[in-house]
Amino acid sequence: MTRLIFLGPPGAGKGTQAKALADHWQIPHISTGDILRQALKDQTPLGIKAKGYMDRGELVPDQLVQDMVEERLTQADTKHGWILDGFPRTVQQAGFLEALLDRLDHHGEKVVNLDVPDEIVIGRLLERGRKDDTESVIRRRLEVYREETAPLIDYYTGKQQLVIVNGNQSLEEVTVEIGQAISC
Ligand code: AP5
Repeated sequence: MTRLIFLGPPGAGKGTQAKALADHWQIPHISTGDILRQALKDQTPLGIKAKGYMDRGELVPDQLVQDMVEERLTQADTKHGWILDGFPRTVQQAGFLEALLDRLDHHGEKVVNLDVPDEIVIGRLLERGRKDDTESVIRRRLEVYREETAPLIDYYTGKQQLVIVNGNQSLEEVTVEIGQAISC
C-alpha cells in the first residue's frame, strides 16, 4: 500500500514525479494545485474564492483546501493508496491531515521532500510559463514556501516519516532515488 506525500518548493518536480509514480502504481495523484486550477476553470465557488490567492502566489485559506482534500481522500479510489502533491503546506494542514488519516484508518504514509536550489526552480518555472510562473509571483511563492511550508520538514522529521531526495538531477534519476528512499 503506497501512501506518499510530496513536499518541496515550487518547481521542485512534485507534480512531475507524483504523476509518473501514480500512473506506475495505478493509484490516484491528488494535486491540490490541479484541483484548484480546475475549480477556477469551471468557475465554481471554490475556484472563484481561490483565484486572487493563486494569482498572487499566496496560499488559499487552510479551511477551503482542507475541505477539498477531505472530500477527495474519502472517495473509494483512495483505498489502495494515493499520492498527495501540494498538501499539506502549513503546519495547520499537516495536523488536519493526520487527524483525517487516523479517522480513515490510512496509516504508514511517507513524506518525500524534493530538495532543489532556488535558482534552479526559478529557471524551470520561467521556462514552463504557467499563469503563476512570472518572476515576481515565483519569488512570492518561494517566500511563502519558506515561511509556511518549509517548517514541515522538521515536523515530519520529528515523526520519522521524512525522506530527502535530490531533485536537482534528471527526471529518471529523481524517480529512481525516490523508489530507493521509500523502500528503506
Ligand atoms: P501548486 O500547483 O501546488 O504549485 P507549486 O507548489 O508552486 O508547484 P509547481 O506545480 O509549480 O511545481 P512542482 O514541484 O509540482 O513542479 P513540476 O513537477 O510542475 O500550487 C499552485 C497554487 O495553488 C499555490 O500557489 C496556492 O495558491 C494554491 N495551493 C495549492 N495547494 C495549496 C495548499 N495545500 N494550501 C493552500 N494553497 C494551495 O515541475 C516544474 C517544471 O520543472 C516543469 O516544467 C517540469 O517539466 C520541470 N522539471 C521537473 N523536474 C525536473 C527535473 N528533474 N529536471 C528538469 N526539469 C524538471
